[in-house]
Amino acid sequence: MIWNVLYVSSASYPLTREDLERLLTDARAWNKGHDVTGILLHCGGNFMQLLEGPQESVLRTFARVVASSQHHTVTELLNGPASGRIFGEWAMADSQVNPERFQDMLRLADQRQIQPQVLRTFWETNR
Ligand SMILES: Cc1cc2nc3c(=O)[nH]c(=O)nc-3n(C[C@H](O)[C@H](O)[C@H](O)COP(=O)(O)O)c2cc1C
Repeated sequence: MIWNVLYVSSASYPLTREDLERLLTDARAWNKGHDVTGILLHCGGNFMQLLEGPQESVLRTFARVVASSQHHTVTELLNGPASGRIFGEWAMADSQVNPERFQDMLRLADQRQIQPQVLRTFWETNR
């Protein structure tokens, strides 16, 4: 069974491109070793991340994410079983998102209407 977690959070300080690369390198190394895939969307000081994989791995990884001092106000949007992986080929895809589109995603998230598939569509049209 595939588990997924989706959350939004705010960066603790303005992350440079290098900070983000370092974060992603660390995240991908861990995720590869724990069969976790997903995507990290970032926009200014905001993040939205999807983690997917075996339940135990995803929950351990999410605990690691929550513990990071690099962001705060981690707000869970989804934490439950999924019908499958959406980013199966990515230890952690990433995409910078323009502010209007990020606001659209946050609006869906606020209304609890966001589905992980939306992130895939979003990512494909944003590359
Ligand atoms: C937005 C964000 C996303 C992250 N994603 C992952 C992840 O997918 N997998 C993972 O193992 N760690 C993830 N982390 C944790 C980082 O890889 C790293 O361990 C952490 O940022 C170091 O935090 P520290 O500065 O508190 O030591 C994430 C952290 C942040 C802030």
